[in-house]
Amino acid sequence: MCGIIGAIAKANVVPVLLEGLQRLEYRGYDSAGLVFTDYGLKRLRTAGRVHQLCKLVEQENAQGFAGIAHTRWATHGKPSEQNAHPHFSGGESRIAVVHNGIIENHESIRTFLKNHGYQFSSETDSEVIAHLIAFKLKEIPDFFKAVCLAVAELQGAYAIAVMEEAHPERIIVARHGAPLILGIGKDGNYVASDVSALLQVTRDVIYLEEGDIAELSNHSFHIVNCLHDQLGEPVNRIIHESHLSNEEIGLGSYAHYMQKEIFEQPSAVANTLEMISNTQSITPNLFGSEAGKIFLNTKQILILACGTSYHAGLVARYWLEKVAGIPCNVEIASEYRYRNPVSDPATLVVAISQSGETADTLAAMNYAKKLGHTYSLAICNVPESALIRQADLRFLTRAGPEIGVASTKAFTTQLASLLLLTITLAKMRHRLPAHDERQLILTLRHLPNALKQALKVEPLVKNWAQNFAQKRHALFLGRGVHYPIAMEGALKLKEISYIHAEAYAAGELKHGPLALIDDEMPVVAIAPSNQLLDKLKSNLQEVQARGGELYVFADADSQITPSEHLHVIRLTEYAGLLSPILHTIPLQLLAYHVALVKGTDVDKPRNLAKAVTVE
Ligand code: F6R
Repeated sequence: MCGIIGAIAKANVVPVLLEGLQRLEYRGYDSAGLVFTDYGLKRLRTAGRVHQLCKLVEQENAQGFAGIAHTRWATHGKPSEQNAHPHFSGGESRIAVVHNGIIENHESIRTFLKNHGYQFSSETDSEVIAHLIAFKLKEIPDFFKAVCLAVAELQGAYAIAVMEEAHPERIIVARHGAPLILGIGKDGNYVASDVSALLQVTRDVIYLEEGDIAELSNHSFHIVNCLHDQLGEPVNRIIHESHLSNEEIGLGSYAHYMQKEIFEQPSAVANTLEMISNTQSITPNLFGSEAGKIFLNTKQILILACGTSYHAGLVARYWLEKVAGIPCNVEIASEYRYRNPVSDPATLVVAISQSGETADTLAAMNYAKKLGHTYSLAICNVPESALIRQADLRFLTRAGPEIGVASTKAFTTQLASLLLLTITLAKMRHRLPAHDERQLILTLRHLPNALKQALKVEPLVKNWAQNFAQKRHALFLGRGVHYPIAMEGALKLKEISYIHAEAYAAGELKHGPLALIDDEMPVVAIAPSNQLLDKLKSNLQEVQARGGELYVFADADSQITPSEHLHVIRLTEYAGLLSPILHTIPLQLLAYHVALVKGTDVDKPRNLAKAVTVE
């Protein structure tokens, strides 16, 4: 979702801005633009992709020592050049703004500014920021202070970078509810919404905190925090060295990030589970130093998450209730935050998020706390994210950067972490004798290898892709803990191949969706050899009897025999608790190969963004 990169240095920064935008493309966007210093502020924008902006830059031979650039994911106003950032406020000294997030009170600010003679040239909420700063600058002739005063009036989530034509030797940036990171270089200073955009110039980074406003010049920077004082109190923020490698954020020999990330799952899971590689017993400290005490008093779990992370939560519910015997609710974060749920201080809130910046998940976790839930645990893939910072306990999945919009390795590492949580709670609740715990740890240690095996089905899955690519709809069936896996399979297919896909608990078929079955409706079934297999087989017969085309992912020992309208791919033998994790793999591969056949933009599917930092 929207990306920001800004640079101010002793050399031309336009190539840095373009490279930064390219690295931010994965976040999802529909237009792009930049402003650079060239005897004033020059602006180039396009309602297209970054490579089109690169062409404009080339045509104009754009060069400058400072600039801010942006990829926009449309919220207010359609994707168009006019709505693309940076936005200007005219007047004696032009002001340029790029913004990530949503300004909730933009309408009242817009009305106020219009009444004061400001003219708007876009439909965006972001443009009000430029004019508001211009307005404040009339009250207080100090650009930094004017930004502070303007920001104090904004409601909603934002990360912004601002430049003033009269003083192009500085860039002002502010963060509230959307990530923003400073890059401290030898010959310049930088800002971006994502570390990956900064690595081209520096590894020394500062994660700005809520309410921080910073001023950057080519040789210095200073930061104030405005949470308690509109004009800010100076703060020191630690400079971290980023250890992200270019290999981690590059494509290597893969055609797409999604493909790379699917195949990285054995190592991503191995990294996430590294702490159990030499142990026979798990301690709650894995989740934070206070976890032992908190878990002892935990009577119930409430999982909050969105999308794929929500599916991970749904799987975990089965594990937590079955193995740890602890009641568990799982809620879509965007729904939870607007309900009036009954709170319980003894319920541990578990927020799951790849990015740790998902607005709904953050808001839901904080709402749960406000309602009276005492403790929260974040399961997240981004160490410096807001979610990690705001939770009481934390577990970092170590999937490495996930760049493909469709989440893959984040999901399986979330599941691995949730299994660790299950084992920990089961043990603390005296539901897991030492021998069983050792067995479970051994099973978990085997997971990376089991994932490697599961990936071997790729050529078989690829053979199915052609059939799906011709269809407009697909149905995914699963039962028990594999039902959320069916949901995840359907989500993957719809988001990258644009085929409408729905998941049903197979037992629900006859309560409605059976009416959809005909030879145009492929039905994908997840059929592990567990205690529900016979029930599932009956459901599959219901489909066959109505002329449906079945695509079944079974275990090696299941007695499902392929026939004309029944296609079967077998994984290895039934993997017990690990089974839902392994059954995810062929579904990811199916979505990927169907998308390839359809020729969609696998890594950047239309309309979607990677980190959903707005509501
Ligand atoms: C689907 C997908 C999304 C995310 C959702 C939550 O492939 O990626 O559904 O899972 O937007 O994002 P995080 O996990 O970052 O909170």
